[in-house]
Parts: sequence; C-alpha cells; structure tokens
Amino acid sequence: MDKSEKLALSLSLTLLVVFMGAIVYASVAKNIEVPTCITDVEPFTTDTLFQTGPDEYELQMVSRMWAFQPSTVRLPAGSTVDLYVTSQDIIHGFKVEGKNINLMAVPGTINYLRVKFDEPGEYLFACHEFCGAAHHTMAGRFIIEEGLDEPETEDGGV
Ligand code: CUA
Repeated sequence: MDKSEKLALSLSLTLLVVFMGAIVYASVAKNIEVPTCITDVEPFTTDTLFQTGPDEYELQMVSRMWAFQPSTVRLPAGSTVDLYVTSQDIIHGFKVEGKNINLMAVPGTINYLRVKFDEPGEYLFACHEFCGAAHHTMAGRFIIEEGLDEPETEDGGV
C-alpha cells in the first residue's frame, strides 16, 4: 500500500472515531436527544393534553392544512412535556421558537421529543415545511405561566 493511501486511511478512521465520540458526548454528557419516530402506536386523530406526573405532561399535537390543534397550550413554568406530533393530511413541520424543537409532522407516523419549559413566557410555534396556500398562517403558541393551576389547550386563531 502506498504511503499516501495509508495516511488517507488512517486519517479517515481517526475522523470516524472523532465523529462517533462527538455523538456519544452529545447524548451522554450534554443530554441532547434526537427526535424519535414512533412506529408501534396508532397515530392519534384528536389532540390531547394530560398530566403524567408532577410537572410532567403529555401533549398530542395534530397538524393539518392549515392549523395546529391545539393552537394554544397553557402550562405552568417548570413543566416537562412529552410532545407527540402527527399530521392528518400532508407533511408539515413543527418548530418552537427559542427551544431546540424541530419536528416533522408526517401523516401515518408519530414523532416524539421531550421538552422542558423553565422560563415563563410565550413560545411561538410554526409550521416550517411549505404546505400550501395558507402555510404562513399555520402557527400557535405555548404560554408558560408561573403558578398556573389548570393547564389547558385552546383551538382557533393565535
Ligand atoms: Cu403546514 Cu406549512
């Protein structure tokens, strides 16, 4: 084997090890989660919010042309939300401002991500996948409030 071939091979192997190490570091030390596609659950057709533990909630978000259901989600500060997103028609996107949430809403499947809302405030979310004439109106918001007793969801305009 040529000397330059050996060098190229060992350099590629070293890079592979570095990249694998970066992935392990991100998931273990930084606790960065990769969005997950859930395949063993039937896609839901109606939106639901329910409490699963102290400060823990499950939100099932339905997207369709051209709205998110629910469009407003009110939660207490400190909430951890297991977020499940699906679509009833075509592919939409689900991105939350100021949070590391960027999911695709795909018909027939459910995508999942866990998110924690520590700071009170409004977190807008919007469709980031062009989905037709009213794509630009497809948005909603999380409203995070200090000491909120009754979490709730609303449908309709933002
Ligand atoms: Cu839904 Cu763009």
